[in-house]
Amino acid sequence: MGCCCWSFAFVGCSSCSSRISHLKAPASRLHIFSQLSPPRKTNNKSRYLRYRPAHPLRTNPPQKYTNLVHTRRFACATDSPTMEYKMIGPEHCAQVIEHLRHNFFADEPLNKAAGLCQNGSSCAALEDHCAEAIQDRMSVMAVDVKDAGTYKIAGVVLNGILKPNDTAKALEKLDSSGDAHFRKIFEMLHKHNLKHNLFEHFDVQSMFDVRILSVDSSYRGQGIANELVKRSVAVARKNGFRLMKADATGIFSQKIFRSNGFEVFSEQPYCKYTDENGKVILPVEAPHIKMQLLYKAICGDDQDDKVPNH
Ligand code: ACO
Repeated sequence: MGCCCWSFAFVGCSSCSSRISHLKAPASRLHIFSQLSPPRKTNNKSRYLRYRPAHPLRTNPPQKYTNLVHTRRFACATDSPTMEYKMIGPEHCAQVIEHLRHNFFADEPLNKAAGLCQNGSSCAALEDHCAEAIQDRMSVMAVDVKDAGTYKIAGVVLNGILKPNDTAKALEKLDSSGDAHFRKIFEMLHKHNLKHNLFEHFDVQSMFDVRILSVDSSYRGQGIANELVKRSVAVARKNGFRLMKADATGIFSQKIFRSNGFEVFSEQPYCKYTDENGKVILPVEAPHIKMQLLYKAICGDDQDDKVPNH
């Protein structure tokens, strides 16, 4: 029987065993996109500062953090010889969903605010949303090649193709969703996108939609999300898209998109999204205070990404 796992040899998948994201090495490694961008530059100081605990009197890094500085070669995952970036196909869906259950479903700021689910548990509505994006074959994952030829998914970016009527239809479909938490989150996102209509503004008939950005908690702070967004831009360009968009829900994802050339189109402060009694619908935890709808116009070459004439 066919399996939902990787096309090459695997140890397990959600339908076969619990070791979902550890996969056996392929006979010959595919270095998809490995030439797309040079290794990310690292900065010892900033890496150290990121992990330094706040203490006004501390001038030297404590012992347990000095290792992070000294092993800098491995501190940046995009420099790591074991990290590979690959396109996600429908056959990877089960592994990607399993990664998201442990790293996105409970951690993403809006999901957290709505109490969507516990870490590791499933959420049918959000899983359908993710699976739909994977079908468009524009998504990318970072996989860490472990010892003995096993793989672990370190991060994913799920990208989909968005057409002018898709958001209105998705909003309509929300009425029949039995998941009130999911409805709360996506009602806000869809309504915002309908009000601040990128299709009308840029006069395009399709957009490259960066829907889900997620990095395994044990791999965060190493530049993986940044690299996934960078590679998504390359995928969008290669596939002839003129416009990319993303609903970035937290300050870190917003920073990542902006550093990849995205610009803010509109914003929704969370404290101003209230019900008829003035109660905040999604009480998102600090430091995240607003959702940003970001866009990136794509022209022919890397240096030339400007807002298209319309
Ligand atoms: N604290 C401080 N800075 C951070 C943090 C953090 N927790 N996370 C990211 N950053 C900053 C870094 O300073 C870095 O900037 P630099 O290049 O100047 O050093 C920049 O963001 C890029 O960081 P990465 O290492 O590439 O980000 P990472 O791989 O850790 O992934 C992510 C970030 C995706 C937000 C991760 O924390 C995560 O999966 N969170 C839960 C899910 C989520 O919130 N996803 C985004 C929702 S929006 C969307 O999906 C479209």
